[in-house]
Parts: sequence; C-alpha cells; structure tokens
Amino acid sequence: MHSPRGSFTSRFGATVAVGGSVVGLGNIWRFPYVAGENGGAAFIVVYILMSFLVAVPIMLSELSIGREARRSLHGAMARLSPGRPWKFTGTLGVVTALVIVSFYCVVAGWALNFLGRSVVDDFAGRSIGEITGGLRAFIDSGWKPVLWMSVFLGLTAGIVWFGVEKGIERFNKILMPLLVLMLVGLGVNSLFMEGFREGMAFVLKPDFSKIDGAVVFQALGQAFFSLSIGMGAMTVYGSYVKRDESLPRIAGTVAISDVCIAILSGIAIFPAVFTFDINPTSGPELVFMTLPGIFQQMPGGYWVSIAFFSILFMAAITSSVSLMEAIVAWLMEEFRMSRRRALAMATGTVFALGTLCAVSQVEGSRLRVLGMDIFDLFDKTSSTVLMPLGALLIVVFAGWVMDGAMLRGQLTSMGHSSKRLNS
Ligand code: PFF
Repeated sequence: MHSPRGSFTSRFGATVAVGGSVVGLGNIWRFPYVAGENGGAAFIVVYILMSFLVAVPIMLSELSIGREARRSLHGAMARLSPGRPWKFTGTLGVVTALVIVSFYCVVAGWALNFLGRSVVDDFAGRSIGEITGGLRAFIDSGWKPVLWMSVFLGLTAGIVWFGVEKGIERFNKILMPLLVLMLVGLGVNSLFMEGFREGMAFVLKPDFSKIDGAVVFQALGQAFFSLSIGMGAMTVYGSYVKRDESLPRIAGTVAISDVCIAILSGIAIFPAVFTFDINPTSGPELVFMTLPGIFQQMPGGYWVSIAFFSILFMAAITSSVSLMEAIVAWLMEEFRMSRRRALAMATGTVFALGTLCAVSQVEGSRLRVLGMDIFDLFDKTSSTVLMPLGALLIVVFAGWVMDGAMLRGQLTSMGHSSKRLNS
C-alpha cells in the first residue's frame, strides 16, 4: 500500500508537469475542430468562462484530494471517506482515462505519421485537395493508423516505465516553452495569409446568437478535456506536489497557459482554414488538413513542419503519459500489482480499444453506436458525459464529504500560501 512516492522538485517542475498533462492535442487539435463545429468566437467566449469559473475550482479540488491522501483518486477517496462508496468515482475516472487515451493515441499516431511525411518532404507540391484526400486514404486503410498508434503507445509506455521525475518532469521543462514559441511563430505567419481577416473574425468576433445549450455543453466538455479534469489525472499529480507549494498558483498558471495556447492555436489555424477554403466544420481532421498547407506556404516550411509535428507529438505524449499514469497508479494501488504488470495490462487494453477507434473510422465501417463511429463516441462521451460526471462527484466530495479543515489546509498549503483562506 505504501509504495514510495516521488515528488516534483520545485514549483516550476510541478507546474510544467501538470502543464504537460494539460497542454496537448486538446489545445492544438481538438480546440480548433470543436470551435469550428460550434461557430467560432462565441463558443470560445463560453469556453474561456467555463475554464476559469468551472474547471479551475474542480482542478483545485482534485489537486487537494491528491495531495492530502497521497494516492490516486480511487485510493484517495477510500482513504478520506473509508467504508463508503466514494472510491468508485476513482473507478469511473480510470474508465474515462481509458476511453480518452484510446482515441488520443490514434490522433497522436496521425501526428507521428505527419512527422514522418514531413521528414521525407511528402507534402511538397501537393494541393490542399490532395492533402485532404491523402489523409482520408490513410484513415481508410485501417491498418496504417493502427500501426502509427502502436508506435505512439509504445513510446508512452516507455516513459511511464521510467516513473515520475525522470520520465515526466525533465521532459516537460524543455517542451512547453518550445511549443509556445512555435505557436507564436505560426500566429505571426498568419498575419501574411489571405484569409487573415476572416480567420481572426471567426476567432475573435462573437455572434452570441450562436450560443445554445449544445454549444455550452461542448464548451464545458472542451474546458474539462483541455484541463485534464474530472477523471483523477490531477489527483495523481497533486499527490506528487510538495506540501508547501501553492496549489491555487499552480492551477491558475496552468489554466491561463492552457487557454492562451488553445487560442494561439486558433489564431494559427483559422486564417489558413479560410485561405485554403477549408470548411471550419470539417471535424477531427480539420487541423491535419490545414497544417501541411500552412507549412508549404511559409519560408523554411520544410523545417518548420518537422519542428511543429515533433513538438505536437511531444505535447501529446506528455498528456498520454498522465492518462496512462492514472490507470497504472490505480492498478498498482488497488490490486497491488507491480509497475511492470500494471503497465503491461494498461497498454494491452489501450491497444485493443485504440484499434477499435481507428478501424471504426474506415469509410463504410459498421462499427457505429448512436450514429457515431467508435472514435467519435469515445471523443464526445468522454468530454460531455464522463468527465462532467466525474467532476461533479469530485466537487461534491471535496465540498461536503472531505473534512473542511483538510481542504482549507491544502488550498493554503498549510498556511504557507494565502492567508485569506485561513481566516
Ligand atoms: N488535456 C489533454 C489535452 O488537452 O490534450 C488531454 C487529457 C490529458 C485529458 C489527461 C485528460 C487527462 F487526464
């Protein structure tokens, strides 16, 4: 039960590690595609509100529960409320992590494939129509996405194998600043695109008549997905944060960075979407249809393309590592498995589910549920059903079940940070 727990060595280390989980495909791939499907700027306003007003308090609850109990969500709830069924929130979280990591690895596989194609300069001279057709053919092959997903999953498992500090912390310190730099560069490049005005208007000029219940729900789901909350990943990270670090500070910094990176990604993508006449509602393929065209048009595009897909791949892997870590930590704590066994089981299950997601996307596949392929089903239900449900249980637990003094202690880092919460 009392397996030795590592801890992050500094606040910067903790922030970038949490940031590594939070910033990923959700910002660069999912945010533009969901914003595109939901009308752009008005969606973005709701998404920002949801991130700060709803998601940050939930993130704080998760981090507090984790640091208090020094366990994954399941173990933490069992410890803080023994003999009651709260711990099943942790079980739900593990199911959610499994669902997410399965389709996440598929998209990350696309990114890896695009990295490979950038290296061999395969996009050179191709029209947007050809690039889009090529992506469709890739997905329709069935086996290619599975192959690339497997490579990505193998790399994820490799990092989880090496544990907390060596695997995650070091990696993120270099990666996060590079990603931001790259996106700023692409944002500046957008200035020179024909569709700049139209793209910026799409991102910045809200038409509030476009907001309805469905848009609000999608925005909530995107905020939860992007901030990695509602399923216990943050609890695991919380358990590694030192006692005297300020949790509100970590959560605040991470949330601001996360929202800024998503918007930067929108600024990099939408001007190009309009320049190339791509439909903003193209769905999960949107960003992959757009990026190669952007790189073709810019000076040094060959190198920028390689750099960008490398960084995208790395941003994805720091997130998938946190998802795997949540599953592995649960298996280790609840079933007293060795790290090696837990990791093997998790990887095998993700491989099976990820394959299902990829194969269901093949044109004409009969693997459909509720009118969606399995990929879409996993993508949509994780953010609009599973994460909100988990989040609700977590805040009720933090607010009403967990001892109030304990929670206050965590939020003020036992008096090390904000004095106000103590009074
Ligand atoms: N927040 C990650 C992203 O934006 O890519 C995805 C994610 C990671 C969701 C970890 C949930 C999670 F626990």
